[in-house]
Amino acid sequence: MQFVEFFDTTLRDGEQSPGVAFNKEEKLQIAIQLEKLGVNVIEAGFPITSPGDFEAVSLIAEKVRNTTIAALARAESKDIERAWEAIKTAASPRIHTFIATSPIHMQYKLRKSPEQVLEQAEFAVKLAKSKVNDVEFSAEDASRSNAEFLAKVFSLAIKAGATVINIPDTVGYAMPEEFAQFIKEVMEKTEGIEKVKVSVHCHNDLGLAVANSLAAVKVGVQQIECAVNGLGERAGNAALEELAMALYTRKDYYQAETSIVTREISRTSRMVSRLSGMMVQHNKAIVGKNAFAHESGIHQDGVLKERSTYEIISPEVIGLDLNTIVLGKHSGRHALRQSLEELGLDLPEEKFQKLFNDFKILAEKKKTITTADLFALVDAQDVSEELILNYWQILSGNNLKPTATIGLWHKNGEEYNEELIKAAYGDGPVAAAYKAIDKIVGIDGSLLHYSLQAIDSGEDSQGEVTVTVKFGEHIVTGRGISTDIIEASIKAYLQAVNRALEKGWITVKKR
Ligand code: KIV
Ligand code: ZN
Repeated sequence: MQFVEFFDTTLRDGEQSPGVAFNKEEKLQIAIQLEKLGVNVIEAGFPITSPGDFEAVSLIAEKVRNTTIAALARAESKDIERAWEAIKTAASPRIHTFIATSPIHMQYKLRKSPEQVLEQAEFAVKLAKSKVNDVEFSAEDASRSNAEFLAKVFSLAIKAGATVINIPDTVGYAMPEEFAQFIKEVMEKTEGIEKVKVSVHCHNDLGLAVANSLAAVKVGVQQIECAVNGLGERAGNAALEELAMALYTRKDYYQAETSIVTREISRTSRMVSRLSGMMVQHNKAIVGKNAFAHESGIHQDGVLKERSTYEIISPEVIGLDLNTIVLGKHSGRHALRQSLEELGLDLPEEKFQKLFNDFKILAEKKKTITTADLFALVDAQDVSEELILNYWQILSGNNLKPTATIGLWHKNGEEYNEELIKAAYGDGPVAAAYKAIDKIVGIDGSLLHYSLQAIDSGEDSQGEVTVTVKFGEHIVTGRGISTDIIEASIKAYLQAVNRALEKGWITVKKR
């Protein structure tokens, strides 16, 4: 059995998905969950890119102690210095530095000769090594690079002190058998390869990121880079949950062990989906809503007789608890605490108290509180908000111009003590509410995407709204949950506004 390490880049490459912008509390929340999931390395961010990213990486380095924390840096001294500053308090820090090696990138993007790239790679690894022992070197666009040249760059990087050599398929161009052959060839030609870990980082432009990563495992790579729900640039990165479950389900074939705690997969996916605002498609492998649903009569009959006829994974293995926990308005603190514990959700007392209050409010509106409701309540606890909803009022009908009045509380210092109210009309009640929020903040958001779904089955299920909004040149997502779909819509838009405020892309201009 070989051991394959999971390098998670949800917080770095994943955050490069259009519309995804985590704040630092959200990043920390995800990092803590990734640690529970058992990943070996968390790439917490790219500290040179913004003060916010720097702060988030520093916070994660300080708080998440049982996983290696990596920070990304181009092969430049200012990037490496900044990356080191951000991760220096980590229990196990890693600097991840990269430079492109393909002819196309060297000529058009870097405008550097191969010799200059070699020199810069060596310089970067040496500088990173002077700060920290664990240095990962990536050759960007490796899969479109010349194998001889790549081996030369890697040999130099290893000599300069790299501990991990990463072979990215940056543009998702590789084919599995070809990629495996290419890796073998590069490994054979690289001097000192036996001293380092070999890694791959595959993008999904042709839908092959997982297949390419698994082909690489088959030829002996020891680290795979991936993101939860396959988030990442363009079509995304290899999906963590698919890699983990392929290696788990087909251990007979891959002969590989990992440290992934599969029972945490479902919860991690839900958390990332909620905080990123990127919904998981229903038929997505492993974590899609339909991944374990059997529709046809023949299939249902087979599963009832013997689950393994049509199920290669038991839902419980990924922590999908089909035994819905049912609580209601008469359930007390003890019952709630116990249900949370059964789901592996242990909250500190101050957070539990707030959650209990939210639970009571929800239980007044909804007869039964399900597992999905509990997860949604817990996930909603840590979001930082400059504006919160005080009240909303809608007038709508087939003979009326839909009109909304929105009241928000604005945070001044530690207190939400400034009430801001505006009314607006629109083509529908949701559009009217969004215009009223725009008026309050003094912005002009354009709604690029809106979707509504029920978070579980049943007539009183809560509605979950996801929106993607453009403020100026910035795209942000938001999500809101409520028993009332108008309220869920308002909360989703407000979350997008709060995210844009947190990033400093907009400010509240009261008029
Ligand atoms: O896709 C890529 O090449 C990257 C590198 C920075 C590893 O994200
Ligand atoms: Zn990438």
